[in-house]
Amino acid sequence: MLSIQSKNKIDQELKKYPDNQKKSAVIAALQIIQKEKGWLSNKDISLVSQYLEIPEIAAMEVATFYNMFDLKNVGKYKISVCTNISCMLRDAEKLVNHMKKKFDIDFNELSKDGKFYLKESECMGACGGAPLITINNHDMYENLTIDKFDEIIEGLK
Ligand code: FES
Repeated sequence: MLSIQSKNKIDQELKKYPDNQKKSAVIAALQIIQKEKGWLSNKDISLVSQYLEIPEIAAMEVATFYNMFDLKNVGKYKISVCTNISCMLRDAEKLVNHMKKKFDIDFNELSKDGKFYLKESECMGACGGAPLITINNHDMYENLTIDKFDEIIEGLK
């Protein structure tokens, strides 16, 4: 069941669109639920589709397309690392290998302490700062080196 608070927030989003275009609020609605719960379960996605009166598959397509949506627990810090061409040309692979070793996880896994989750990302449109990561979909760190990455992680502890 969606919380009253979430429903109120989704209702605010729905006001931006005509009554017969509730589907337009699906991204915002999913963001609201993810912010409340930390990540999106299949049940959450289903509840959003019911609330917006759209097919469940329509909400599922959006939730599985965008990198910002998490379909499982991503812990305290979700680190998204770009592995597209510009970043790879600037040693992203070394960085990725370092991250995997440092946290003892692979992509789409959570560290044993529940703090760090590693996600492979497509180009983030900031190739001039390659290689780069985002943390929790917000903070972007560019021109990374292994030392710079370690400093960032140290700052999070
Ligand atoms: S290739 Fe990494 S940001 Fe574009």
